[in-house]
Amino acid sequence: MQEPSPFGPFIEKLWHRGKALLGVEYPILGGAMSWLSESGLVSAISNAGGFGVLAGGNMELDLLKEEVEKTYRLTNKPFGLNLITIAPNFKDHLDYALKTRFPFIILAGGLPPREAITRIKEAGSKLFCFAPTVGIARRLITMGTDGLIIEGHEAGGHIGSVSTSVLAEQILPHTKQVPVFVAGGIGSGLLAAHYLMLGASGIQLGTLFAVAEECRAHKNFKQALIKAASKDAVPTAQFDPRLPVIPVRALLNEGSRDFNTLQLGLIAQLERETITPREAAVKLEEFWLGGLKKAAIDGDVVRGSVMVGQSVGLVKKVQPVKDIIAGLLSEAESELNRLLAIACESRG
Ligand SMILES: Cc1cc2nc3c(=O)[nH]c(=O)nc-3n(C[C@H](O)[C@H](O)[C@H](O)COP(=O)(O)O)c2cc1C
Repeated sequence: MQEPSPFGPFIEKLWHRGKALLGVEYPILGGAMSWLSESGLVSAISNAGGFGVLAGGNMELDLLKEEVEKTYRLTNKPFGLNLITIAPNFKDHLDYALKTRFPFIILAGGLPPREAITRIKEAGSKLFCFAPTVGIARRLITMGTDGLIIEGHEAGGHIGSVSTSVLAEQILPHTKQVPVFVAGGIGSGLLAAHYLMLGASGIQLGTLFAVAEECRAHKNFKQALIKAASKDAVPTAQFDPRLPVIPVRALLNEGSRDFNTLQLGLIAQLERETITPREAAVKLEEFWLGGLKKAAIDGDVVRGSVMVGQSVGLVKKVQPVKDIIAGLLSEAESELNRLLAIACESRG
């Protein structure tokens, strides 16, 4: 008779804190993606045992309420709400989330204001924040976050400058206070297994879920992802330090060139003092939001912004969320079993 695989008990030991904090079968987060992470995709991820996250940050308040209620109707499993602290509607979003006692809030958009953290903690919601550097990770822990998401340069969308692997080395072995989830560049269960072994309590993926059957992305968007190589997903350049550009990783296309033209125009306006840096930053963010909609919803992958991570090179086909999660688990299982076999062999 075949020996039972040690994978089950092994992975349970590795990710038990992530499971307990989120209340899910698999601490695999479907990272919020503006325009894409709505009730359909979020509920599919949570129903498959993962943790879906609603991308609320850029929604009008009424749509946000509608989407939260719709997700509650589609799943009775836990899911999160991603809010962007620098978005114009942030205060209204947070008021709504706290008034309705939303249980899991993920704050994006830089170091969150202390007041927002205090209110979330007082309301009894679980708080998750993004750490793009080791210094920010430490500050967020001190400020009281319940979970950290370390997101590296390889990720899709707005990105930091440090790679996921370096953040993992710097943060995972030394962070015992809160569970840490790793995001950015994860395209298979192989890498996921290694981040878990380094101390992660779970993982977060965006790009892989963008091609899920349940994701509302236009078919042109999904096909662009299937065709793209990792090298095609590049970050934007910043031409002038006076213009506060948060780098965005997306497929290089006409839209990337439009962004460069916009930047040069805004720099000229800054020089003439006809715009403030803050107004210029808002224009850049509007560009990305509009560009992502153009590509992801309208299907214009030439002029729109096809935001993806480098993991796009591992995206092979459109498939249901449950198959994506099953694939990740099976790859993680093969990798952990391979290492366990080597360990057993070397013990003799
Ligand atoms: C199209 C797209 C849109 C995104 N929008 C958001 C967002 O609104 N809020 C956020 O916190 N992260 C956003 N992200 C980041 C993801 O939540 C996730 O952390 C990232 O995609 C992980 O890297 P990966 O794409 O390599 O898996 C976005 C990513 C993509 C690809």
